[in-house]
Amino acid sequence: MTDNKQGKRPLRSTQWFGERDKNGFMYRSWMKNQGIPEHHFQGKPVIGICNTWSELTPCNAHFRDLADRVRRGILEAGGVPVEFPVFSNGESNLRPTAMLTRNLAAMDVEESIRGNPIDGVVLMTGCDKTTPALMMGAASCDLPALVVTGGPMLNGKHRGQDVGSGTLVWNLHEDYKAGRITLDEFMDAEAGMSRSTGTCNTMGTASTMACVAEAMGMSLPGSAAIPAVDSRRYANAYVSGMRIVEMIKEDLKPSDIMTRASFINAIRTIAAVGGSTNTTIHMKALAQRVGVPLSLDDWQTYGQPVPTIVDLLPSGRYLMEEFYYAGGLPPVLRRLGEAELLEKGAMTVTGKTLWDNNRSAECFNDEVIRPLDNPLCASGGICIVRGNLAPRGAVLKPSSASPELMKHRGRAVVFEDFEHYKARIMDPDLDVDRNSVMVLKNCGPKGYPGMAEVGNMGLPPKLLKQGVTDMVRISDARMSGTAFGTVVLHVTPEARELGPLAAVEDGDWIVLDAEGGELRVELSEEELARRLELVRQKLPIARVGGYMQLYLEHVLQADEGCDFDFLVGCRGAKVPAHSH
Ligand code: FES
Repeated sequence: MTDNKQGKRPLRSTQWFGERDKNGFMYRSWMKNQGIPEHHFQGKPVIGICNTWSELTPCNAHFRDLADRVRRGILEAGGVPVEFPVFSNGESNLRPTAMLTRNLAAMDVEESIRGNPIDGVVLMTGCDKTTPALMMGAASCDLPALVVTGGPMLNGKHRGQDVGSGTLVWNLHEDYKAGRITLDEFMDAEAGMSRSTGTCNTMGTASTMACVAEAMGMSLPGSAAIPAVDSRRYANAYVSGMRIVEMIKEDLKPSDIMTRASFINAIRTIAAVGGSTNTTIHMKALAQRVGVPLSLDDWQTYGQPVPTIVDLLPSGRYLMEEFYYAGGLPPVLRRLGEAELLEKGAMTVTGKTLWDNNRSAECFNDEVIRPLDNPLCASGGICIVRGNLAPRGAVLKPSSASPELMKHRGRAVVFEDFEHYKARIMDPDLDVDRNSVMVLKNCGPKGYPGMAEVGNMGLPPKLLKQGVTDMVRISDARMSGTAFGTVVLHVTPEARELGPLAAVEDGDWIVLDAEGGELRVELSEEELARRLELVRQKLPIARVGGYMQLYLEHVLQADEGCDFDFLVGCRGAKVPAHSH
């Protein structure tokens, strides 16, 4: 019988398929109805292919084919592939927001892995939330796991220009509201933006999380940036299938790879690529699953000194195709390592260290992947601000903000929730000017269950018509990784949890000092407390039932990763025996 860890420990799957008794008969017999031959039950490692394919998740629409390549690799290496579906969080279609069901998907993954006769798992991830959900679920089981990302779409094309997923929509919609283009011209861009399967082709959340998976050592070197339709994406899936079989023999588990060193590498990588603010939430949730301490301060300590060197939208100019042709993530990691901005000894799925994997990487285009001494943004890390408006912190992405607004004092224009924003923003008499600070409440994890990506609220049309392109915006919401602007997000505690944000009123003076790490409202403690008490008395008590009820009762705040309180931690892969 094939054992793992140098032949010392029996394969987990033999608990199901290894016995010549009534239970073994039943486990094998039902599986044989798929035409699986007898020798596949004789000590071969069984590999789960955890698939998020769905036609409703267009970013992952090619995953049946991609999973087939994983399957072929597993077979070549002597394993037995078994593919299973899990909840697929498609960012573009799911209402109210795919973040609402990230934890649902993570639960699905965790229970699917633990309850089934598998020795290891390949995680097929792509669209934004699918990557953290699958990594979280697998981390809580801690069986050997390898991430296969689906890759980005080809460059969008519109009127002779390369255009980026999502980012184009934000730009064109502002142009339309400002009267610079017609509705027909806006709609005309629709098909050209999304020309192939794959994830958003900017450095949005999906691409950032693909880079995170690679930088943390959870996917093969060089895999994050390969376009979804490039033949090399399929070859990558194939060799990933081969590699997971070896990982089982080596008993190389997520807890061996996702150490504090690998989280620090991820934070630095996110700074270097100009990655999405959403990752602050996902990384915290993931760290809690493997018991690694990680706080918002770590983003300041390890991310802030790292310059953004990858010149991609929404921070810069290029798209994921150019990033791949320039060499992808490996030369970025090499440059970080040469500047001693990498924990070089972090383990990876290859069985080698991150530095061993990337120390010889070549860069083929210094315009796209810039040298560290000629960065796109000198201090690229996600900026953390705190103060009486955000006692537990808020985040801001400097590489996509306006430098002149990073230190700003302005009068609040307050929207009580997103419906109030929509009702008010078009009003030509809205008392707002370019120095105002737009404040949006009740869009946090509980306030807009799921924490919608509405923090980059569009500017008032009357200011757009005056040529205003950015304003300070503050909320307890998230923002799409494809979006940009001087947008302070994830204000914690959120308004719905009676954070001070709930007390802000029109006309209050707000101070943002990104470099100084400060966000405050010029109100006394007494006045804040008085107003919050009034808000508390009016809080609605809603009983919504279903999954939403579970979510509302257990979701943690943004600084705690928005995981469910009862899902924090690693529960391992042990499962009680089941007798038929
Ligand atoms: Fe799926 Fe952007 S909508 S990655």
